[in-house]
Amino acid sequence: MRRSPLTFWPGARLPLTMAVRGVGLLTRSPLCAQTRTRIRCPTFPRLRCAGTVAAELRRDEQPSGSVETGSKDKPSKKTFSEVQEERREQAQRSVLIHCPNTVSEKKFLKYLSQHGPIHTHFFYESFGFYAVVEFCQKDSVDSLLNRTQTPATGTEAAIPFRSRFLYLKPKGPSSHAAKQSLARSSNHLPPSKRKLFELLCSAESVDDQLNTLLKEFQLTEENTRLRYLTCSLIEDIAAAYFPECTIRPFGSSVNTFGKLGCDLDMFLDLDETRRLSTQKSRGNFLMEFQVKNVPSERIATQKILSVLGEFLDHVGPGCVGVQKILNARCPLVRFSHQASGFQCDLTTNNRIALKSSELLYIYGTLDTRVRALVCSVRCWARALSLTSSIPGAWITNFSLTMMVIFFLQQRSPPILPTLDTLRASADEEDKCIIEGNNCTLVRDLNKIKPSENTETLELLLKEFFEYFGNFAFNKNSINIRQGREQNKPDSSPLHIQNPFETSLNVSKNVNQSQLQRFVDLARESAWFLQQEDGDRPSPSSRQPWGLAALLLQTVAPSKRVQKKLPSERIKSLLESVKSNSTQSSTNTSGKQALSTQP
Ligand code: GTP
Ligand code: MG
Repeated sequence: MRRSPLTFWPGARLPLTMAVRGVGLLTRSPLCAQTRTRIRCPTFPRLRCAGTVAAELRRDEQPSGSVETGSKDKPSKKTFSEVQEERREQAQRSVLIHCPNTVSEKKFLKYLSQHGPIHTHFFYESFGFYAVVEFCQKDSVDSLLNRTQTPATGTEAAIPFRSRFLYLKPKGPSSHAAKQSLARSSNHLPPSKRKLFELLCSAESVDDQLNTLLKEFQLTEENTRLRYLTCSLIEDIAAAYFPECTIRPFGSSVNTFGKLGCDLDMFLDLDETRRLSTQKSRGNFLMEFQVKNVPSERIATQKILSVLGEFLDHVGPGCVGVQKILNARCPLVRFSHQASGFQCDLTTNNRIALKSSELLYIYGTLDTRVRALVCSVRCWARALSLTSSIPGAWITNFSLTMMVIFFLQQRSPPILPTLDTLRASADEEDKCIIEGNNCTLVRDLNKIKPSENTETLELLLKEFFEYFGNFAFNKNSINIRQGREQNKPDSSPLHIQNPFETSLNVSKNVNQSQLQRFVDLARESAWFLQQEDGDRPSPSSRQPWGLAALLLQTVAPSKRVQKKLPSERIKSLLESVKSNSTQSSTNTSGKQALSTQP
């Protein structure tokens, strides 16, 4: 898609004086740094409104103790854009309120209900106590904002800003609510290593362990709401410069593979601004906005992000630690949103990344085993320091997810369809070209036939390690578009074809030594899981086994685990046996020799 020149709207020169969408400069100064976050769930009956995805998401949640395969009697699945739109609309009816932690829930809700019925709410602790309140009607938010005042300043000066991030202050002496009127809290963070250890050790099977891990780590309903609300609040801030903009979340916050604590990727979408400008052109003339032209799209992106970065830093309520990383391949602004506790990465017009998120959403929704397997592989990689939150030569979560998808395309019968198959099922309305790249995908998931494959998660995990422990990385590229190994087009140690920009490698950053560590650990893990077959400790012994032993050896080191991991001598013997058999076989499985040397 050809990008048009930047459009700056009249009035954008003076963002500090604007009140856009009921928001603008009129709020209190940033709050203090956040640490651990807890959610308090509502305990009273809620008012019901139509049109939420919450109930549906809960219904679709995978049960922790069972293996589900692609079942045929599932309710119809929502498209990615339907979910996005519903969540976005939900966030627009919501406010984020910093309140005293002794507030009476009943009084708080009664006070807010003056502005209209409340659909749902929850409390959570960050560095402070917060409530997310979703009204049934957007008008209620406007009514609340109209009755909200700018804080009176003491020794500090406030930069006034009007937004949906509010502060609830008791009038007069604060009255402590009775204990029973405070809402119940539930943890907003992944479980501690110790709790995880206990949960995994007391599981009934490896399948049960994988499902438990997913249940404990997946984004909760509240966390998901908070992510969309945070984007909506940032949109209000960005709208001071770009009134028609949209801030869209992408990446693991929306692609079904998010883990509690993952970052919040978002991008500034200015397409609506451009669409409106083209729609208005009628008659004999064409009227255009005066704009500032710059030499390239990249420079335009850098300038927009630079301005937004400054604005978030100086004026954005709750935005701290703003870093402008403008010389990266994909320029971005990174900051912490204190009240939500999210680390945010803001880019612009990243439509291909949004399409990648849709692709992963489709794969994550098609078969319940996919999310469980991806979650375990991501946790395994993190536990063994194969991935890191710091950018570097390590494998990323995105690359790992692509590897799991590719592996599941190789099963017999395949568990996941290839991208070409998803494209072949698309109709005219699904057609999508972004910046010259064909990003067409079938959007209606109900059109895709569930897999007939009934393999267990335990088998799949073992086979995943086995498959990539023996993959010919020196020769072959991973390609989910065609679902088969292909010759590598270059000498990068790990080559995973970008699904939409096919000339790019999503794992270009990975160096040979990181790849070798991945291969070694995959082989050890495959070996370990194979040795464990039929040799499990009794649940009462509290001995780590299966996934617990793979992930949590540092928490509860056990002689049993140490004994089970192969010694250097056994490993080299094992490798020589494998490499001999690989060389002498006709290689019908497509697996190649073990070496990862280019
Ligand atoms: P987390 O580690 O949980 O944050 O996973 P993530 O999937 O959100 O990864 P990340 O935050 O690194 O990137 C966000 C999104 O950007 C990904 O989901 C992809 O859609 C996209 N992305 C990341 N890296 C690449 C890449 O190398 N190439 C392409 N095309 N897209 C990428
Ligand atoms: Mg991310």
